[in-house]
Amino acid sequence: MDKELVVVIDFGGQYNQLVARRVRECSVYCEIYSYKTDLEKIRAMKPKGIILTGGPSSCYEEGAASCSPKLFELGIPVLGLCYGAQLMSYMLGGRVARADVREYGKTEVDVDTSSALFEGVTSHTVCWMSHFDYIAQMAPGFRAVARTANCPVAAAECVEKNLYAIQFHPEVLHTVEGSRMLYNFVRGICGCGGDWRMDSFVEESVASIRKKVGNGRVLCALSGGVDSSVAAVLLSKAVGEQLTCVFVDHGLLRKNEGDEVEAVFGPQGNYKLNFIRVNAQERFYGKLAGVSEPEQKRKIIGEEFIRVFEEEAKKIGAVDFLVQGTIYPDVVESGLGGESAVIKSHHNVGGLPDYVDFKEIIEPLRNLFKDEVRKVGLELGIPEHLVFRQPFPGPGLGIRIIGEVTAEKVRIVQDADAIYREEIAKAGLDRSINQYFAALTNMRSVGVMGDERTYDYAVALRAVNTVDFMTAEAAEIPWEVLKKVTSRIINEVGGVNRVLYDVSSKPPGTIEFE
Ligand code: XMP
Repeated sequence: MDKELVVVIDFGGQYNQLVARRVRECSVYCEIYSYKTDLEKIRAMKPKGIILTGGPSSCYEEGAASCSPKLFELGIPVLGLCYGAQLMSYMLGGRVARADVREYGKTEVDVDTSSALFEGVTSHTVCWMSHFDYIAQMAPGFRAVARTANCPVAAAECVEKNLYAIQFHPEVLHTVEGSRMLYNFVRGICGCGGDWRMDSFVEESVASIRKKVGNGRVLCALSGGVDSSVAAVLLSKAVGEQLTCVFVDHGLLRKNEGDEVEAVFGPQGNYKLNFIRVNAQERFYGKLAGVSEPEQKRKIIGEEFIRVFEEEAKKIGAVDFLVQGTIYPDVVESGLGGESAVIKSHHNVGGLPDYVDFKEIIEPLRNLFKDEVRKVGLELGIPEHLVFRQPFPGPGLGIRIIGEVTAEKVRIVQDADAIYREEIAKAGLDRSINQYFAALTNMRSVGVMGDERTYDYAVALRAVNTVDFMTAEAAEIPWEVLKKVTSRIINEVGGVNRVLYDVSSKPPGTIEFE
């Protein structure tokens, strides 16, 4: 069966992945390709629609990012966004000019609701603008269907040729009715029925994995994180005990996490697979003794992880397939729009394939965004605490302990973190804060407890809100919650006499506290 496809052509805009995610939210599958992609290749994919993203260029400048003018003659509906809108207008005979001032931020816009693009949208709404250049004169055959105080052509259309241009960013949440506009394009104008659903994804993936693997043996490095868990369960559904999952407990996981992973995937769990847990705590602590430099700690943990995995893989012998939890953003970021065949090696298991005897890699989540991976996880019946797990770095608590890592410090940070997470959940904040955890500073200071002088560690609490984890703001946790967490940590966790809250944003801080 031919799947419906919308192609997103990437001109280097910062919201390219967001465009694709919003389209997928309309139950329409889409893929991102570089603007350099050959038109024939795009035509051969038989897309039902094409979206041109924003980008940093000015279309009238020499060497600006561009596309073949024939793109507009394929008879396929095209929607240009921001730079894409300008480029479309410019290439089809309109004029694009530079404004004196940049139009930036939330802007009121009047839209013509008789345009198919704005069906069901309120005539006066709010959009997100971010541009210097503007469409000074529309291309022949176009009519303006939206305007703002400073922008006479905030959107234009040429219905006859199925071409649409929007100067603002419907993909950004600040454009209040932006999702509806994209829905109107892909479901209305392009006529997509909406066949991209996670239940059918599971069914189709299981069938295709089964076909590919045949009687082969499959090996998976399971971290307990969302991606590797979902990948493992998909494989288990497809090939059952032909799958072996190796879970390395490096002793740097959160409190009880090793046991939680084992409860789900181990012999007492619900899945058919071979589960091997390697308790390598002592090995890792031994290697980390006396090391306090953060990069060196990361390197040691990464290398030791490979050693341990390699030893287990040797015991298993040659396998046919190795599972990797690569997801679509990894593919896109590895080269504009999945053009490049080189895939960024998985963050947490860097370099693994070199050390393991296998024939082929399987990446069942390669086309999914993170929110889609979570939906697949729920579809597969994976417990919610795993599906909605926050990001957790591969080197684990090793990089949440400043200075030397010891078993004692791991115990302190695990206990403090468990209390923090429990209280955040009790306060109902666990789904609204994007990432939060306790870290252990390397600072000891004087305190009093009862009548006694103490000389103990300070625990640092971190909580951030972020969209992309590239920039982040400290979350404003209610004072009551912070006070409760603080008193519980000091009372219940031996070796701690102070709790600090980190209000730094990223940049200049980072999210992790290493
Ligand atoms: P930073 O500290 O760089 O973190 O602001 C950004 C995001 O990346 C996560 N992070 C990692 N994730 N392996 C991972 O899988 C790692 O080595 C790693 N280091 C940082 C961090 O938790 C945050 O979400």
